[in-house]
Amino acid sequence: MSSCPDIELVLSRSRVAVEPFGVYVHWPFCRAKCPYCDFNSHVRHNGIDEARFLTAYLRELGYFASRAPGRSVGSIFFGGGTPSLMQPGTVAAILDAIAGHWPIEDGVEITLEANPTSVEAENFAGYRSAGVNRLSLGVQALDDASLKALGRQHTAQEALDALALAKRDFGRVSFDLIYARESQTAQNWEQELKQAIDHAAEHLSLYQLTIEDGTPFAAHHKAGTLRVPDGAKARALYLLTQELTETAGLPAYEISNHARPGSESRHNLLYWRGHDYAGIGPGAHSRVTRDGAKRALSTIKSPEAWMAKVEARGHGLASDEPLSAAESAEEYLLMGLRLAEGIDLKRLAHRIDEKRIGVLESEGLLARNGDRLTATPSGRLVLDRLILELAA
Ligand SMILES: C[S@@+](CC[C@H](N)C(=O)[O-])C[C@H]1O[C@@H](n2cnc3c(N)ncnc32)[C@H](O)[C@@H]1O
Ligand code: SF4
Repeated sequence: MSSCPDIELVLSRSRVAVEPFGVYVHWPFCRAKCPYCDFNSHVRHNGIDEARFLTAYLRELGYFASRAPGRSVGSIFFGGGTPSLMQPGTVAAILDAIAGHWPIEDGVEITLEANPTSVEAENFAGYRSAGVNRLSLGVQALDDASLKALGRQHTAQEALDALALAKRDFGRVSFDLIYARESQTAQNWEQELKQAIDHAAEHLSLYQLTIEDGTPFAAHHKAGTLRVPDGAKARALYLLTQELTETAGLPAYEISNHARPGSESRHNLLYWRGHDYAGIGPGAHSRVTRDGAKRALSTIKSPEAWMAKVEARGHGLASDEPLSAAESAEEYLLMGLRLAEGIDLKRLAHRIDEKRIGVLESEGLLARNGDRLTATPSGRLVLDRLILELAA
């Protein structure tokens, strides 16, 4: 430790500028399981012991603070599952504990993912008082038939009411929609997206429906009883999405995320730019660098098994592995090319094949500007292939 507090302050400020850091809190419970979802989310019809879970979250936070000392927190994200099922007091206690472990940066972004049922909307003011300053609402669709088909627990009107309330209570609001849904045509999507843009604040997440293995949607899809736009139809929906959002001043800063310039999610940028974060709660992932060595950590997915482990040993880690420089570089490439700003080639330290970049540039899939490499609009359409070729 430095003997001079002023020097220490300057050093810690400069470290903040160099290496951003955030905290992710995973709340793994939902009212019902949506048939398309493979996130780590669980339904507990008999309720849960929230106070006991809170104690476990606080203990695991203490553990992660010991693994990531000397950092400052620029963003906090409560994700799920359904964090809007948490009592505001639980959110407040976790935020207080984070502030007790690390300095909190000015302008910290504190996001909570909320489902837009009327019951959950009653908690919004409490989250605001707890310190949450950004709400991300899972609206998913703007008509009741689609919401029913998606297994959602709210109507379109409830979602719009929750959105209006969120806009009143929070400085920053985003909402999610899922497109390329069953039988969705370009015309339907155009109407829905225009309506969404009319309601949008500063940020929108627009996800193309993914059929995830092991979900009821995957079984229906395989059986031919669920037909979703794919191939050329899905591509047309994606291109329409880019066109309408760009015209409305909400361009994509990441494949599925749109914002007015300056309103991008600071926390999500942390992941895509390859920075560090501590993830606490069941099934959370972390990236923590210490003494120049980066590690990838993850916790046990089952909520009860996670809690038992935290109670027994102070953390619920399931894995804790070093990431080699090559693995880190590949991860940065994988995440960074999703961003409109692309990647900084200097950070890859020559771990990328210049010849291959040249070929993909000549095919119009990549664009290079000095040390920055971005996927072009055509490249973004085939991003998975592009990344595979670059990482090979
Ligand atoms: C982890 S979920 C949590 C949000 C919240 N529980 C909700 O459902 O509103 C985050 C977002 O992922 C998106 N999502 C989940 N499964 C998806 C899938 N199979 N395809 C496309 N988007 C999906 C949804 O838009 C959802 O809002
Ligand atoms: S989409 Fe959201 S509400 Fe539905 S199961 Fe997944 S996490 Fe839960």
